Amino acid sequence: MGVQIIKTGKKVPYKKITNFDLEKILNTTDEWIKDRTGVISRFISTNETTTSLSIEACQDLLKENDVNLSEIGLIICATMTPDTIIPTVSANIKKALKIDHCITFDINVACSGFLYALSVAESMMKNLSIKKGIVVGVDLNSQLVDWKDRGTAIVFGDGAGSVLLSYDINDTSGIVSTFLDNIDDTENSLILKNISYKTPFNNLNNEFEFFKLEMFGPKVMKFAINAINTSISSVINLSKVSLNEIKYIVPHQANQRIIDAAAKNLKISKEKFYINIDNYANTSAGSIPIALDELNKNNLLKKGDYIILVGFGGGLSFGAILLKW
Ligand code: UT7
Repeated sequence: MGVQIIKTGKKVPYKKITNFDLEKILNTTDEWIKDRTGVISRFISTNETTTSLSIEACQDLLKENDVNLSEIGLIICATMTPDTIIPTVSANIKKALKIDHCITFDINVACSGFLYALSVAESMMKNLSIKKGIVVGVDLNSQLVDWKDRGTAIVFGDGAGSVLLSYDINDTSGIVSTFLDNIDDTENSLILKNISYKTPFNNLNNEFEFFKLEMFGPKVMKFAINAINTSISSVINLSKVSLNEIKYIVPHQANQRIIDAAAKNLKISKEKFYINIDNYANTSAGSIPIALDELNKNNLLKKGDYIILVGFGGGLSFGAILLKW
C-alpha cells in the first residue's frame, strides 16, 4: 500500500437540465427517463470547458491552503473530451495552479478513465517517489452526444471530479488491490469516431467530417452488469478483504438498473452502492470521483473503511480499485 486519497473535489457546470427540459427538445418523458435510468437532472455546460471545470475541481481540492504545492509532482487528467489537445488539459491545470515542476499528461479510457488514471498514478508515485499527485476525471459529454438521439442524449451529463494523492511508504492505508481489463467491442456497441480533415492526399470530399457518439444501449447494459461483477470479485480475490467488510461501493453512474442488477447478482445490499445518478446522470470519467467527493464531503467515510471504486465503458474497458480509507 502507500498511495492514499487524502482529499477529494468536484465541479459541475452552473446550468442544471431536468428531464422536463428534455421533453421540450426530444420525443421522451420524465417518467421514461426516471424509470429506465434513474436520472432526474444533469448539469450541462454553457460556457464552461473541460479545462475550466478541471481547474475548479482542483481548486476545490486545495481550498484549505494546507498543501505544499511544490510536493505535487504528477497531474493526470482522464478525459475523452479535451478542449485543447495541445497543451493537454493536465498541463492547463498545472499552469493555473502555478505548480513549477510536475509530470502532466491526459489519458482516455472513456468512462473507465478515472480508474486507469488512478492506477497509473499509484505506479508512478511509487516508482518515481512522488509525494503528492492529482488525478482528475472530467468529461463534457454534451459535446459528444447527438441531441436529436433520445437513446443517448438523456443519459449523459457534464462534470469533473478530482483527488489529491499522497505517497508514504509506511502508510498502511490506500490502494489495496486493482483489477483492470478490456474486452473487444465486437458489436460496435459504443463508438465515437474522431474528426477527420481533408488533406491534399486523402479522399475526403468535405473539409472535415465529424461524428457523434453512437451507443447501442441494451448491449452496453449487458456488458456493464458482467463487468461490475467480474471487477468487484477480482479486487476482492486479489486482497485479503471480504465483501462483507466493504463499507461502500462507488460505481460508475451509468444507469440505476445496471447497479441494481449487479447488486442482485453479487448478493450485495443496494445500500452499499453510493448512487447520485439522479442528480448528475452519466458524466463518464467524472462520474466516480464526483460520487467519491460526495461520499467524502457527507462524512460517510471513516479512516480504515474499505471501499471499492468500480467502472466500465467504451473500449470496452472495465475495472475496480479496492482501497482502505
Ligand atoms: O458510460 C458508458 C456506458 N453506457 C451505459 O452503460 C449505457 C447502458 N444502457 C442504458 O443505460 C440503456 O440501454 C438506455 C437508457 C440507453 C436505454 O434503455 P433501454 O431500457 O435499454 O431501452 P431500449 O433502447 O431497449 O429501448 C426500449 C424502447 C424502444 O421503443 P420500442 O422499440 O420498444 O417501441 C425505444 O425506442 O424505449 C424507446 N426509447 C425511448 N422512449 C422514450 C429509447 N429511448 C427513449 C427515450 N424516451 N429517451
